Amino acid sequence: MKLDFHSHILPGIDDGAVDLNDSLTLAKALKNWGFERVTCTPHITALHRNTPETIRPAFEMLQEALSQESVDLDIRLSAEYRLVPETWPTVLKENWLMPIEDKYILMELPISKPGEMGHIRPIEEFRKVRAMGLIPLLPHPERYFYLTRDELLRFIDEGVEVQSNYGSLAGLYGEEVRWRVNNLREEGLISHYGTDLHNRHYVAVLSEWFGSGNTIVEE
Ligand SMILES: [Fe+2]
Repeated sequence: MKLDFHSHILPGIDDGAVDLNDSLTLAKALKNWGFERVTCTPHITALHRNTPETIRPAFEMLQEALSQESVDLDIRLSAEYRLVPETWPTVLKENWLMPIEDKYILMELPISKPGEMGHIRPIEEFRKVRAMGLIPLLPHPERYFYLTRDELLRFIDEGVEVQSNYGSLAGLYGEEVRWRVNNLREEGLISHYGTDLHNRHYVAVLSEWFGSGNTIVEE
């Protein structure tokens, strides 16, 4: 099935879609590319302090709008949880985990400043999630320039699965990220691909990429 585990298409609650009109544009693009089911994964970070209560109304609004416009796209609800002291301990304490496809938890690291994790050690957090019977999903490791191959292999040994971005393959984040994702792909380290769709610029880049013979990797 053509699934997207990673998207920021809910209206106005993180750095993704700014309003409902924008959300509909992004959702229709996903549908046009061929996705059948898309999980909405708004950020829960120090900057975007979402909770299930802030996410759910935005999700229901988009679901209703898609139904009114007869866009046949199955959307689901989750979040992208960043391992930072401002939000991650609260996520665990308040039981805010919303598994993707009933099993995956999207656990991101800071993009460029690992110091933002403070005393949080990713391996320990991955183990906690595994102990709950869930699978930690590491989004876009190709974008964490500080993350070494050995560290990534240790994560994978702990049961972490890797989700890379179609946009990384398409050059959306520059040539170094493209080089890194191609290395991961050649080594067979990537388990899943996602769009991480945020805005109309992503739509333009990915439309060109999917339009030039590249296809969705089915789950
Ligand atoms: Fe994301």
